[in-house]
Amino acid sequence: MLIEMPRHTEIFGSVKIHEMQRILKIDSGGFANSRAKDIPFDEIKDVFRRFAIIVPVKDEKIHLLEGVLRAIPFDCSVIVVSNSRRDAPDTYKMEKDMVKNLHDLTQQEILIVHQKDPDLGFAFYEAGYDYILDKDTVVRDGKAEGMIIGMLLAKSLGKDFIGFADADNYIPGSVREYVMDYAAGFCMAESPYSMVRLHWRYKPKVVEDKLYFQKWGRVSETTNKYINLLISTRVGFETRVVITGNAGEHALTTKLADILSYSAGYSVEPYHFICLFDGFGLDAECITDADAANAGIEIFQIETLNPHIHEEKGDEHVNNMLLGSLQTIYYCKLCNDLVRSKVLEELGDLLEFDEPKENIIMPPIGEIDTHRFVKLLESTAETFTRCKQGITECEAEKEEYLEEESVRTL
Ligand code: GDD
Repeated sequence: MLIEMPRHTEIFGSVKIHEMQRILKIDSGGFANSRAKDIPFDEIKDVFRRFAIIVPVKDEKIHLLEGVLRAIPFDCSVIVVSNSRRDAPDTYKMEKDMVKNLHDLTQQEILIVHQKDPDLGFAFYEAGYDYILDKDTVVRDGKAEGMIIGMLLAKSLGKDFIGFADADNYIPGSVREYVMDYAAGFCMAESPYSMVRLHWRYKPKVVEDKLYFQKWGRVSETTNKYINLLISTRVGFETRVVITGNAGEHALTTKLADILSYSAGYSVEPYHFICLFDGFGLDAECITDADAANAGIEIFQIETLNPHIHEEKGDEHVNNMLLGSLQTIYYCKLCNDLVRSKVLEELGDLLEFDEPKENIIMPPIGEIDTHRFVKLLESTAETFTRCKQGITECEAEKEEYLEEESVRTL
């Protein structure tokens, strides 16, 4: 792959935010130069082997989900975390059947679980991580909650890199590119604490019967503006470095995933920045992790070659996402009165009260014993399946567990 070098890096405390980098060639010819880095495919493939891609899904068209799963490179493990309906018609059953069939045909490692499985909730409870649970000890609804489930499964597989791909993507080829872009970012990273966030070159919309290749969505443009204002007012120099405030398509090293906190629902992506600013930003009150602070935390922002075409979910959904995003900025510890007042102005009628609500923040997952967590899932959770080469593992594990249990009862 040939990828532009970042022209500038904004250094904000221990957080290094690289300016946007364009993909020049997906399949390159080994010609590196001072403005572009060539990354041989062998290096990309090496990352794939240490990579899990999580696909959160909630009631998407099965064709779209299938396209996304088929596009993820074979060497990556795939983790589907579904919050789709279970009452008739049981969408989750369709997803699971499709996943098993795909595994039978391809032998790629795929794990799937349902977010509302009571035994999954119980596994979180047993792990002492009840921040993700509702009052009935079931995992709450929300994309971030699905992402956390997926990250624990990725950790249990021993993966070093964790990435995300939405399930409602109409162009499977773009998903393949996203995963390659993530890998390219990790090949460039100097710190073990790094994150790759994708900026879509275009997000086409149908305007008066024609495709219009729009560059920015309303939410991301606004989120970026206020994250940049936050940095600018702290540093004293204006910056527009952040262009991926809401990047749903992103990936991070497991080391970084272990020390981040996570904001619920769709506010998860802008909160990555806020969490890093609070814990590692310029003048942060207390450093969250000395090792990460010394190594530095690197954020790559890569512009994809492919456009992004996905399901549109309506104005209410967009407004909620905007509200969730700006709430995270408002409550950043480094946010000053100027930024807060601008955020309030921007939110206007979207605000129910004078002050925005605080989003639910879930603490780091680094301390959870993922092997114990997954062992419990394998032995109890009806919706959990791990398809790995040759076998569908949870079925074998479940039988083994039931046999052990019956011996114990005798
Ligand atoms: N497991 C799970 N649980 N998945 C969910 C849930 C949930 O409660 N809610 C939504 N999803 C899945 C969707 O099915 C989809 O695959 C993905 O999460 C993204 O959700 P969308 O509802 O399609 O979000 P969007 O397209 O409006 O926004 C996306 O892009 C934004 C940036 O433009 C998301 O990725 C946002 O997080 C992102 O900020």
